[in-house]
Amino acid sequence: MKSVTGILPHGGTLVNRVLRGEVGKAVAERAQSLPRIALDSTRMSDLELIATGALSPLTGFMGQVDYEKVVREMRLASNLVWTIPVVLPVSRELATTLAEGQEVALCEGDRVLAVMEVREKFEYDKQLEAQEVYRTTEEQHPGVARLYGQGEVLLGGDIWLVDWPSAATTEFPDFRFAPADTRRAFAGRGWKRIVGFQTRNPIHRAHEYIQKVAMELVDGLMLHPLVGETKGDDIPADVRMMSYQTLLSSYYPADRVMLGVFPAAMRYAGPREAVFHAIARKNYGVTHFIVGRDHAGVGNYYGTYDAQRIFDNFRPEEIGLTLLFFDHTFYCRKCGGIVSIKTCPHDRSEHVVLSGTQVRQMLERGEALPTEFTRPEVSKVLVDGMQAKLKAKA
Ligand code: ADX
Repeated sequence: MKSVTGILPHGGTLVNRVLRGEVGKAVAERAQSLPRIALDSTRMSDLELIATGALSPLTGFMGQVDYEKVVREMRLASNLVWTIPVVLPVSRELATTLAEGQEVALCEGDRVLAVMEVREKFEYDKQLEAQEVYRTTEEQHPGVARLYGQGEVLLGGDIWLVDWPSAATTEFPDFRFAPADTRRAFAGRGWKRIVGFQTRNPIHRAHEYIQKVAMELVDGLMLHPLVGETKGDDIPADVRMMSYQTLLSSYYPADRVMLGVFPAAMRYAGPREAVFHAIARKNYGVTHFIVGRDHAGVGNYYGTYDAQRIFDNFRPEEIGLTLLFFDHTFYCRKCGGIVSIKTCPHDRSEHVVLSGTQVRQMLERGEALPTEFTRPEVSKVLVDGMQAKLKAKA
């Protein structure tokens, strides 16, 4: 067998918490009689990520010491950098029925997905988490809204996955590569330097530009759109996936790009989430990661480059992969191409800049996006996809 080396996962070892074969079956059977905890979509995403090692070194949902240190200091108890709580919240009523040390079954509807030993249960301060992680306590922030809506008690403990969440087998199965798969694929292609690109949006020409600038420096691009839960007004993942495939087949060399999905829920935690995104992609085997303008931001909660500045809090070896920071890029009519403030001397009136809201409104009206902003093939897929969604809703 070809050995897969490459960049080390966060903490040094790629976690695998998937029980397969006879052992998996036996544990799944035993789990039928355990107390059940129904997972929401975010927790199912987290479960899949933990089980496959995408969140290495995490082997389960966080206990109190990890949780509090992550919130306050952006580190796990071991001191490893970690910026986003990965937790299992339940109601107080449910929590009182559970004892520490007891096993529980984590479920999607009737189906047992995983077993977990409840190592700890603890109360936590939502306001503090909101302020520290999201930099706001406002409920209008979608990440904060999710936090305020979740249970009051957190259960900490290691998990073993015995069955996949339905999304893991039905949504984009051809692109759902676990970290071990992407690492194997990179080695198989002979790629040593790989740049990862996180996105929750269609790929417009500014995104294409920063990806291609990065591709000049490395062997390959892992295009890694997030397909877990996003806020209602983001473009749905299935429409985005069609647009990515169209763009790649028309404008990128097939042997230099790997498209895979990142099954995480979006937190909209801006700077903190940029660190989380980078570290998770390191686990998938990328050596470089792009952070552009307002990465993982929402509304006006974060400064345009806060998601780059946050990395100053850590020594480079603590992050362990090379970050590629990009300024805001856009099309300039005078330059006749994509540029940034760093490279373009012309007046703002020459620049074609559309906000996410403007893009969505145009797509909902069935209008093609300007060719300076989005490739025509991509624009068509987006218009058709969004029109089909609107019709299905009506
Ligand atoms: S995100 O929430 O996933 O960050 P988005 O899909 O829009 O949102 O962005 C993906 C990546 O591209 C992020 O690193 C973001 O900072 C970067 N980016 C998006 N638009 C631009 C732009 N016009 N100029 C520079 N970087 C950008």
